[in-house]
Amino acid sequence: MTASNPTPDAGPAAGAPTSSTSPTSSTAPPLSEQIVLVTGGARGLGAAITRAFLAQGARVVINYRSSAEAAQALAAEHPDRTLALQADVRDRSAVESLVSTAAKHFGAPITTVVNNALVDFVFNGDARSHAEDITYDELSGQFEGSVKGALNIIQAARQGMAEAGVGRVISIGTNLFQHPVVPYHDYTAAKAALLSLTRTFADDLGPSGITVNMVSGGLLQTTDASAATPEAVFEGIAAGTPLRTVTTPEQLADAVLFFASPWARGVTGQNLIVDGGLVKG
Ligand SMILES: NC(=O)c1ccc[n+]([C@@H]2O[C@H](COP(=O)([O-])OP(=O)(O)OC[C@H]3O[C@@H](n4cnc5c(N)ncnc54)[C@H](OP(=O)(O)O)[C@@H]3O)[C@@H](O)[C@H]2O)c1
Repeated sequence: MTASNPTPDAGPAAGAPTSSTSPTSSTAPPLSEQIVLVTGGARGLGAAITRAFLAQGARVVINYRSSAEAAQALAAEHPDRTLALQADVRDRSAVESLVSTAAKHFGAPITTVVNNALVDFVFNGDARSHAEDITYDELSGQFEGSVKGALNIIQAARQGMAEAGVGRVISIGTNLFQHPVVPYHDYTAAKAALLSLTRTFADDLGPSGITVNMVSGGLLQTTDASAATPEAVFEGIAAGTPLRTVTTPEQLADAVLFFASPWARGVTGQNLIVDGGLVKG
């Protein structure tokens, strides 16, 4: 569950124009009426996002690649509103099968997707390849996870969203675009490609009522991937951050809810940095 519930899930204020004035201004239904897919949703940031949506009453498809036990345990917290499904986001047919299984299970299509999965990466700058030895294979591995994975998810979910007349795509990025202080060449380049894809998909899918946005975290305290980060790095980030703290997965998840919510109806193609103010976007 998120630390706080900053906005009641009632949608735009009474009297505000919520009906479409054109086919491109579809307002999302309340979170409690949404069917949400969170990739890598069983652990780390993904679990915080899953819990945040569940706390708002949404139905959530908890995707996992290998964490079956964690996914089933999380699903068991709200058995009537969850579905744990295995799929490697890089595998197109597995993703298509996941999307159709979820639609059959809930009797309606997924209309919100969160591209969260992080394939085989740990945040330890000391252990990463530097300029002299980074290989294209390393870049390619991250492109497969971030770009191909997101492409598979968006394309598989697109038709259901278009039929519903509304869709929300939220991808997880990084504040390292603006502040590349560690040599995560592969990770950051792949996420930057995903940011570009976010913007081009926003243009392409906007006429179908689908918004596409990114939420970019700073270092999060803590997920399995950031557990490898030395303690001194967390302390340095907290000291240099306006809010004097390292961002938590739950704080980032709150911003994901915003982009899925009715309150974000006029926002697409954007990248919101959630890092306590360390980087100004
Ligand atoms: N941690 C940070 O400091 C930080 C900072 C900024 C942004 N982020 C972003 O936050 C997101 C999550 O990162 P994290 O720190 O939570 O990572 P993590 O602790 O390493 O967890 C990775 C997640 O991705 C899933 N996954 C990996 N490969 C997959 C695949 N092929 N198909 C489907 N799911 C797959 C894993 O599921 P299984 O366990 O089932 O394999 C797991 O749920 C990423 O997009 C990352 O870039 C993290």
